[in-house]
Amino acid sequence: MLELKKKLASSLAEAAAKAFSENAPGEDEIAAMLEYPPDDTLGDIALPCFKLSKTLRQAPPKIASALAEASQGIPGFDRIAADGGDLNFKVSGEYLVLNVLKNAIDTGENYGKNDIGKGKTVVLDYASPNVAKPFHIGHLGTTVIGHSLKLIHQFSGYNCIGINHLGDWGTQFGKLICAFRLWGSREEIEKGGIDALVALYVKFHAEAEKDGTLNDRARAEFKKLEEHDEENTALWKWFIEISLREYEITFKQLGITFDSYNGESFYTDKMPEQIEKMREMNLLKIDDGASIVDLEEYGMPPCLILKKVGSTLYPTRDIAAAVYRKRTYNFDKCIYVTSAGQSLHFAQWFKVVELMGYDWYNELVHVPYGTVSINGEKLATRTGNVVLLRDLFAQAIEKVHAVIDEKNPGLENRDEVAEAVGVGAVVFHYLYNSRIKDINFVMESALSFDGATGPYAQYTYARTCSILGKADADMNAEAVITSPEEARLLLTVSKFPERVIQALNAYEPSMITRYIIELCTAFNRFYQACPIITAESKSVKNTRLQITKAAQNALGNALHLICLKTPEKI
Ligand code: ARG
Repeated sequence: MLELKKKLASSLAEAAAKAFSENAPGEDEIAAMLEYPPDDTLGDIALPCFKLSKTLRQAPPKIASALAEASQGIPGFDRIAADGGDLNFKVSGEYLVLNVLKNAIDTGENYGKNDIGKGKTVVLDYASPNVAKPFHIGHLGTTVIGHSLKLIHQFSGYNCIGINHLGDWGTQFGKLICAFRLWGSREEIEKGGIDALVALYVKFHAEAEKDGTLNDRARAEFKKLEEHDEENTALWKWFIEISLREYEITFKQLGITFDSYNGESFYTDKMPEQIEKMREMNLLKIDDGASIVDLEEYGMPPCLILKKVGSTLYPTRDIAAAVYRKRTYNFDKCIYVTSAGQSLHFAQWFKVVELMGYDWYNELVHVPYGTVSINGEKLATRTGNVVLLRDLFAQAIEKVHAVIDEKNPGLENRDEVAEAVGVGAVVFHYLYNSRIKDINFVMESALSFDGATGPYAQYTYARTCSILGKADADMNAEAVITSPEEARLLLTVSKFPERVIQALNAYEPSMITRYIIELCTAFNRFYQACPIITAESKSVKNTRLQITKAAQNALGNALHLICLKTPEKI
């Protein structure tokens, strides 16, 4: 549709120049005004002419009819007509068959790709949990938005580097080492995983309230770790390993792999160079013993670089990491996906990078997202209202198992399908809303097979598989559109490549999720209205099978872009 819209805009600009001697709108202006009307009875594409009435100083209906007259015969359309103040265009069946249908069938898993990112590299920093801390529903956003953005960038031709910037450094490791020495056992932690580590951490805090020396001991342990003490280093590595083991289970369920696990500790030896540079450029100010970069001029609180005792901070590590990534990957964009709560942190250190004279500072992109509550309740680590991702997924999978047992007990790959549908339901539900919105997660709605849900979309995909499995279609035979539902479905298929580009530009996977529902709705209407296997003639049947294939390709590719799997049977 992108192509057709582009051609239409250029033809319309010509028509406008003919119809109006003064102030005729140009191609780009028209392209930006073209819309897909929600009700397609009058047309599939519309130009709302009220947008032109100011510059042309005429009433919208007059503009519409003048343009309609001047634009008759533009190829690709059956109907070009003024309806009130709108100029409407109905895409021809011939166009849909020759361009959309063929293309969507032939390109298969490449359908919808673009090459905007050809020759470019993008680094994506996402998931990035703090080691030895629970991996909870608050991390769902960074993990699935981040990975979906990686997939959308890959689909757009970018070379993508996914980095799990683990929070694996800081004084909390001193506390953990200290607590482990006092109360921990290897077996318990091997068995209990992160939960056992978190329990130690909690115990440390409780005990430190009573025993004032504990915090000093923890600081001393961290200092030893910083000085590469062998035993402490071994413990620290082991804590990371235990944590990763658990994260991996969740990542695997989501189909996520990373290109790098370089976490905060990796940048320890890369910070001095940057700190030195800040010092030489006179960017550092001493404030109550700490080194800061004053950002008052830019309306922000100062960016902390070094604590009073000389230890580095979160922003310091981010700055060193950005420089390292630029040198290592020569990125065109470096994307950070975190909750909106960290927006100030990113704005601050992006500014510092700019002040340091790095001319690539504007290639750094922060992609924030809103908060999640569960069944109306806000998460709070302190009150223990924490829902682990692992548990959330397990719960969803279990519920899907029950549905399968009831509806399709003989299903092959039962476990695999339950996992794909359960995990998919959670992800889909999450990615349905624009990312910046705060989300209330309701498991019942996520798992419903009706409405705008993952199970509904995956079920629709499985339906296309079942239809195509029942008949041998000739994908090369000539097709003829005979019903409005066929046209409507193909038109929806044709919008996919455009949606990918919109999602890419807005860093917004929800645009793909919404598109999936639009597509499934069009497919299910087509399925209700048009008999496929029992169609009235061989040629109608074959056309409908081809349309089903085209829809399947668009749907499958779209689902993969938001991290959902596509089981063939559910
Ligand atoms: N570990 C951090 C947290 O859990 C997120 C890290 C995001 N990435 C970054 N480069 N700062 O809040």
